[in-house]
Amino acid sequence: MDVIKLPLLLGSVRMGRRSEAVARYLLSKLESDPRFRPELLDLATYRFGLLEQRPEEMEKPPEALDAFSHRLREADALLIVSPEYKGGIPGALKNAIDLLEPGILRRKPVGICTVSAGGFGGLQCLLQLRLTVFALGGLPIPESIAVSRVQERFGEQGGLRNGSKVLETERFLEELYFYAQALKHAGQGADLYAGRR
Ligand SMILES: Cc1cc2nc3c(=O)[nH]c(=O)nc-3n(C[C@H](O)[C@H](O)[C@H](O)COP(=O)(O)O)c2cc1C
Repeated sequence: MDVIKLPLLLGSVRMGRRSEAVARYLLSKLESDPRFRPELLDLATYRFGLLEQRPEEMEKPPEALDAFSHRLREADALLIVSPEYKGGIPGALKNAIDLLEPGILRRKPVGICTVSAGGFGGLQCLLQLRLTVFALGGLPIPESIAVSRVQERFGEQGGLRNGSKVLETERFLEELYFYAQALKHAGQGADLYAGRR
């Protein structure tokens, strides 16, 4: 059985963020699934500054960016958990994505879970993230998880509130595993990303 290296990128850095509870819920599912080797990549711990220069033009790119990029390069697939802000991708997450080299997710499947306080589960963010993932060479999978009214479903200390419906993760993880495993065995092919910005 292939074990898929799967970082879970948490895209909210806000104090009191609710999407952390969703990320930890998914992490616990992944940790009990022998097909995955998950790891939390918490954007809040990286403290990237605003992009003022492309990293390749900096004299010394930030060490945190090297460490972050390394995790993504090593991964077989990526799971993004992101809130929706102002009908789109949170600025901190987009800034981190803008710092990454193009092609860093080349031929890697990307599962996306969006989180919102409102009733639509962050669908606008989901659609925008799918387009942005293409710019990194990644392949957003068709399945997704959209968590609406997160404050009603997850408690302040994390964990599902009593009576809340369990998130339907089975099909999502099944599909993510399928694509990750298939692409892992698909061979190398030429890398035409070299030199691209
Ligand atoms: C700056 C900002 C913008 C937001 N915009 C939206 C929005 O467009 N749609 C929505 O449903 N919720 C919106 N929210 C509420 C978030 O979905 C809510 O905070 C939720 O808990 C997930 O984000 P969090 O992980 O930062 O808590 C916004 C929150 C912030 C802080």
